[in-house]
Amino acid sequence: MPAIISKASGKIILFGEHAVVYGYPAIAVPIDTIQVKVSILPAINKEQSIIKLRNINWHDDVLFTALDENDPIRISIKNVFALINQTPPHFEMTISSSIPIAAGLGSSAALAVAITKGMSRFLGIYLSNDEINVLAYKSEEIQHGSPSGIDNSVITFGHPILYSKSKEISQIEIRNAIHIILADTGKRTLTKDVVSLVKKNLKKKPDVIKPILAEIGGLVEKATDALLYGRLKEIGNLMVRNHIALKKLGASSIELDQLVESSLINGALGAKLCGGGKGGYMVAVCEPASCERVSSGLVSDGATHIISTTIVGSKKGK
Ligand code: MEV
Repeated sequence: MPAIISKASGKIILFGEHAVVYGYPAIAVPIDTIQVKVSILPAINKEQSIIKLRNINWHDDVLFTALDENDPIRISIKNVFALINQTPPHFEMTISSSIPIAAGLGSSAALAVAITKGMSRFLGIYLSNDEINVLAYKSEEIQHGSPSGIDNSVITFGHPILYSKSKEISQIEIRNAIHIILADTGKRTLTKDVVSLVKKNLKKKPDVIKPILAEIGGLVEKATDALLYGRLKEIGNLMVRNHIALKKLGASSIELDQLVESSLINGALGAKLCGGGKGGYMVAVCEPASCERVSSGLVSDGATHIISTTIVGSKKGK
């Protein structure tokens, strides 16, 4: 039997992180150049199911039953097992990922989506994208407490989206490819820790924090239109305003601020932290002609890794 193979991309939040947790809209885009790949084979004549983790720097083989109760891999698999009424067959699952962990690029959501898609196909269950998304969210909930759901949604649907907790997800059209550079601060922070920090700040200073969250919501609305019509300068300006607002929420760091500044000095049209913040990656938008200069400037100013890619998205059916 050929292996079942499923993949899920990384993501960036182009506008609106943190405010989206409080019901404001946000824009997220899948990043196909980084992915989680899951392949599953039946473990015929084996007593146990095995998970093989294959990353660039380390390899590890673990028995499925030896995974911690709250392990995201175990939770995602169990969520799919719960859909069948019989004992699931033993399996051998190999997971490899090029998405940096705890870096704001959606590694945990991509893992949940790829496992859900792969395991459901292995068991012969058809799941719609909406169903995959619900299961991936369940797994995200265990890890992040109360995530907004934007990460699993953009990764499940594989398309730029405008997301808010109370509205139906809508696809965003980006007619002309936009060049982006993602730069790593080299620092790792758990999203849930930064989400808690913002929550604490909101509790302490509601009069200061509430208007900032509303301001971010307003920037997202403007950005949706600017993205559709490819108004790059406006997109860049809105990103910088979004970064300043995130900094006021307490989500930035010295390293993120430095990389944002570096990219602007070297000709980027705009830049901001992306995802939870406090570390991880930042994103800069640039004209094709200035991408090279922005990238080398970021490396000189401390970026430990660069991903240079484009974002684009014409509307497609769900
Ligand atoms: C994480 O990618 C984005 C945050 O807004 C958290 C969330 O939406 O759950 C920081």
